[in-house]
Amino acid sequence: MNWRALFKPSAKYSILALLVVGVVVGVVGYFATQQTLHATSSDEFCMSCHSNHSLKDEVLASAHGGGRAGVTVQCQDCHLPHNPIKYMIKKIIVSKDLYGFLTIDGFNTQAWLDENRKEQADIALKYFRATDSANCQHCHTRIYENQPDTMKKMAKRMHERNFKKEADKRKTCVDCHKGVAHVYPKG
Ligand code: HEC
Ligand code: HEC
Ligand code: HEC
Ligand code: HEC
Repeated sequence: MNWRALFKPSAKYSILALLVVGVVVGVVGYFATQQTLHATSSDEFCMSCHSNHSLKDEVLASAHGGGRAGVTVQCQDCHLPHNPIKYMIKKIIVSKDLYGFLTIDGFNTQAWLDENRKEQADIALKYFRATDSANCQHCHTRIYENQPDTMKKMAKRMHERNFKKEADKRKTCVDCHKGVAHVYPKG
């Protein structure tokens, strides 16, 4: 293409065409990125590397698998932050798992998970503690205050007592509730 043509009267359309193409590419790109991020957050994405691990079955068998309330909680609901920037950062950390996936001998086997469950669970728990179990609190919004009447008395009492403590002395959800979605290793 002759660049001078851009400035010719008839080339006005070329500039317009370029602008239109630019906007279309931008919009498509934007949605493609959203789609990719969305796709990479589905259970399928997580299970693509963890495919031989019992993790998904464990979730389905747990209270978070849809039994009573018919809600199936997704991996990312618990494991990825909601804040977009923190989300991206955690994604990058997850992408480090790509390295682990390629280098850890026998990673995608149930035997590996069984053997390393305690260590992996503790790494996962570290994240929940660092965020005061924000992912849990995102759904469970009436644990500490304004509890529903249906909450067991004992649960209400334990939660209230915990909440009365000073913030730095308070326990976080996963300190008291382990294995809410997977079998937490005992001992
Ligand atoms: C590219 C492969 C891959 C994908 C995709 C993947 N993982 Fe993993 N995951 C791994 C590997 C490998 C490890 C062990 C890492 C290590 O110990 O070095 C791991 C460990 C974990 C752990 C325990 C340690 C920790 O970092 O907390 C959790 C939790 C976890 N994955 C959750 C998820 C979730 C949720 C998703 C989907 C958003 C996901 N994984 C997607 C490969 C993957
Ligand atoms: C996407 C929303 C969501 C997230 C995130 C979530 N939960 Fe839940 N949780 C639920 C639902 C729905 C139920 C089932 C409620 C029912 O059966 O009435 C439930 C049930 C529970 C129960 C009751 C278990 C039982 O046996 O009855 C506990 C305890 C619990 N969740 C703790 C947690 C903890 C700890 C986290 C964070 C690690 C968490 N939840 C994250 C939605 C969520
Ligand atoms: C100090 C310990 C402690 C902390 C911290 C704690 N819980 Fe509990 N929670 C309990 C006990 C004890 C029960 C009652 C026994 C049971 O059902 O497991 C309970 C019960 C529950 C129940 C079931 C309620 C019912 O009616 O049966 C849910 C849901 C729950 N907790 C969610 C959470 C979430 C989410 C957090 C964090 C915001 C949290 N808990 C923090 C101790 C705690
Ligand atoms: C309701 C919240 C919740 C959901 C849903 C959930 N996890 Fe977890 N996950 C946890 C918690 C909490 C831990 C820390 C250990 C524990 O308490 O069981 C954990 C631990 C893990 C670990 C470390 C090994 C282990 O078994 O402890 C892996 C890997 C993992 N999750 C992957 C997944 C994948 C993949 C999915 C989706 C199929 C998923 N999780 C769904 C809350 C959840």
